[in-house]
Amino acid sequence: MSNPVKIWDLATRVFHVALIILVAGAFITVNLGDEWMRLHGQIGLTILSLLIFRVFWGIFGGHWSRFSSFSLKPSLVFAYLRNRSINTQTYPGHNPVGSWSSLTMIVCLLLQAITGLCSDDEVLFSGPLVPLLSEQQVEWATFYHSEIGQPLIILLVTIHVVAVIFYKFILKNDLITPMITGFKQTLEAFTSSNDSVTMRIFAMISFCIIFSLIWFYLKV
Ligand code: HEM
Ligand code: HEM
Repeated sequence: MSNPVKIWDLATRVFHVALIILVAGAFITVNLGDEWMRLHGQIGLTILSLLIFRVFWGIFGGHWSRFSSFSLKPSLVFAYLRNRSINTQTYPGHNPVGSWSSLTMIVCLLLQAITGLCSDDEVLFSGPLVPLLSEQQVEWATFYHSEIGQPLIILLVTIHVVAVIFYKFILKNDLITPMITGFKQTLEAFTSSNDSVTMRIFAMISFCIIFSLIWFYLKV
């Protein structure tokens, strides 16, 4: 018999949708012209707030969103790659490859947002930390943000989306529906993520505090 288990709490699902929209927005605004760079910076600050919230939620959030439930041990990654049929039943949350790819995306996006704060487009817009840095540090951050971070994020997101589609159509393992509804069908009764109203309010208040602090200290 299969049990529906709540894997992704509302906060994690909203985080994911918001991240998709805002990362797309960050890439669109840099291509629209110099006068859109302020909006690019504001979108970047919102992405930074979301990522800091996700790190916070990786400690205090629902069971399967916590980093402690990620399967990061190299031995698990190798075992998983050898036998992917152990999939959903062994790993209702992120499987070992999903755990590493999620963590890599979060870290690379954090680096992108932080280097953005230190970047200068040498036309109309510069990040809010630029006045605190030396010319060489700004040059380095701008180089990372444009020449390393940009292609890296395009690569990671492309692999991520191709992998999710591959799982759905080739491995017949639908990871997308649980990211929308929160639920996975499992044979065993796994621990559910706590997605109560109290948790949702806690997530909303935490995000609002992080967002306000980021915008107060790093106005663009
Ligand atoms: C800008 C584009 C995207 C970014 C930056 C992104 C980022 C992420 C991140 C950081 C996670 C980890 C979630 C967490 O633990 O908090 C994740 C998971 C996931 N994403 Fe995306 N994502 C993007 C686009 C998409 C798209 C278009 C889809 C659907 C086709 C998708 C489907 C998923 C699924 C199904 C998972 C859960 C994977 C699992 O079960 O291990 N993502 N994504
Ligand atoms: C994760 C969030 C972010 C993403 C995905 C992102 C993405 C990008 C991309 C794709 C470019 C174009 C690079 C090029 O074509 O050479 C760019 C440029 C730029 N971004 Fe961001 N960015 C983010 C956050 C930020 C933040 C928070 C700021 C500042 C508040 C910022 C400031 C800048 C500046 C000043 C440039 C121009 C750099 C140059 O002229 O080479 N970005 N960003």
